[in-house]
Amino acid sequence: MNITIFGAPGSGKGTQAKKIMKEYGYFHISTGDFLRERAKVLDIFGKQIKELIDHGLFIPDDLMIRLFEEIVNNNISVPGFVFDGYPRTLPQIDAFEDFLQQQFPGVNTTTIFLEVEEEELISRILGRAVIELRADDATRSNIQDRIAIFKEKTLPVVAHYAALGTLKTVVGTDKTSTEVWNEVQQVINTV
Ligand code: AP5
Ligand code: MG
Repeated sequence: MNITIFGAPGSGKGTQAKKIMKEYGYFHISTGDFLRERAKVLDIFGKQIKELIDHGLFIPDDLMIRLFEEIVNNNISVPGFVFDGYPRTLPQIDAFEDFLQQQFPGVNTTTIFLEVEEEELISRILGRAVIELRADDATRSNIQDRIAIFKEKTLPVVAHYAALGTLKTVVGTDKTSTEVWNEVQQVINTV
């Protein structure tokens, strides 16, 4: 089985994906973590990525699709994947579904949506900003811009899976990460 975790910035994708990795031995692919690492290389490509992610702007779909498929193909023999941050746009869904069909025919992919209210997203990220020093976490207005981009580009992806009837929503507002984890595990264990 593979698992895809959707959610707005600060909804807990990374937090829950790491727990899945630890508990089930799945390989965690965070496109955001990958891009932040790549942006540390000060070549032209790294600088272009840095410029986009620091402002919360998405990497162009054709490039993101290629990078994602490369990461998966380089780790193909793991027991399962937990995808955190991909697919994030409608063109990415099309490529993702074709790719899964090709690489993992017959393998189930569970889609989990972490739903968290906007004020809680902002306060969580401002809390993290002090520790992790991510440029895209630095100001409230930068965080609000990312949430707006999420609504415009990624909520339609969530709606796509909801329409297919395969989306499992876990409400994270006013819940600790352990409480959310208990619900995420219930979803995984009942698939
Ligand atoms: P990415 O790194 O994925 O950032 P994001 O989507 O904005 O999400 P975050 O990592 O900020 O939040 P999270 O949901 O992982 O929450 P976390 O667990 O850390 O992407 C960064 C950028 O890369 C994008 O903006 C874009 O530019 C680019 N990019 C990435 N993927 C792309 C794609 N597919 N296409 C194009 N561009 C792409 O939790 C947040 C904080 O809250 C933490 O401090 C955590 O400890 C805390 N917390 C977690 N759960 C709880 C809880 N239940 N209660 C209280 N606190 C909690
Ligand atoms: Mg994250």
